[in-house]
Amino acid sequence: MNKTTTNNLLFDLSGEHPELPMAELEAVLGALCKDFDIGDLEVINRLAFFETKDHSPGLIEKLANRLSMCRGIFEVAASRSNWQKVIRSSPRSDEIKKLDLVNQVKEIDRGVFERRKAQFRPYFAPISLHPRLARCLVNLAEPPEHGAVLDPFTGTGGILLEAGLMGFTVFGSDIDPRMVEGTIRNLEHWGLKEHSIFQAEIEELPGKITSKDRFVIVTEPPYGRATSIHGESLESLLERAFLVFNKILAPGGRLVISIPDKELVSLADKYFSTINMFELRVHRSLTKYICVFSRFD
Ligand SMILES: C[S@@+](CC[C@H](N)C(=O)[O-])C[C@H]1O[C@@H](n2cnc3c(N)ncnc32)[C@H](O)[C@@H]1O
Repeated sequence: MNKTTTNNLLFDLSGEHPELPMAELEAVLGALCKDFDIGDLEVINRLAFFETKDHSPGLIEKLANRLSMCRGIFEVAASRSNWQKVIRSSPRSDEIKKLDLVNQVKEIDRGVFERRKAQFRPYFAPISLHPRLARCLVNLAEPPEHGAVLDPFTGTGGILLEAGLMGFTVFGSDIDPRMVEGTIRNLEHWGLKEHSIFQAEIEELPGKITSKDRFVIVTEPPYGRATSIHGESLESLLERAFLVFNKILAPGGRLVISIPDKELVSLADKYFSTINMFELRVHRSLTKYICVFSRFD
């Protein structure tokens, strides 16, 4: 293929959240497309258009294997301005698929995420977030290629499972030995045999982690009542956790964390700059704040 021609890609984003699908797409394109520039990404009617000169073999397949909040990727033969017209006049992705201008369609099998939901894992506890959200959080952390993901509140391993299936090295810990066992069972059930999962109270982590570089933290601390966090308030636990994350992350290192109370988000300000925050309403009495932080240099 002529290397100067552009590869015009159209992403059919899911409507499950107003901002997360686009934020995930930006992160994944940044990781996998050599010439990604955020200004070149344009979205109309949940269809995101991106023109790239990157013709790496299997690029579409790789993008599809990473994205959780996207229904499909089309490779299209038309310039940006033509596509703008098409999208504006025919906004439905199922209609666009039938147009002559579409060279290739890569549907994303969203059923795989449903089959990894908490209740279908060998070890189950009703605390795990949906696999699509778990994967999105990992992507937002932008782990480096061949890098690692740490979850220090691993629970049943929902976040590490998605990270491992995307090819990242996974390591994690939890105060509860049943969760440690459970995470290992769940990871191994999906063929992820290489991992390092151990029991640790959050403050014990610095003594147990040796490498400072090439990992990101993606995590979801407890969001239940004080009893479920061993009598400690969430505020106190988070204060301790941010201090620890500051110790173990490299300067500029990413932390993606789900916090169930907006007022507690600013506890991170001492050590982290905020890159992004997304509000996710789970039900009437639970809203999660998905925060993307970067450790101060
Ligand atoms: C909301 S759950 C994590 C759920 C997880 N994302 C999953 O997919 O299953 C929070 C976890 O934090 C653990 N935890 C609570 N207090 C802790 C502490 N002080 N240090 C380490 N882990 C703790 C709990 O045992 C629980 O498994």
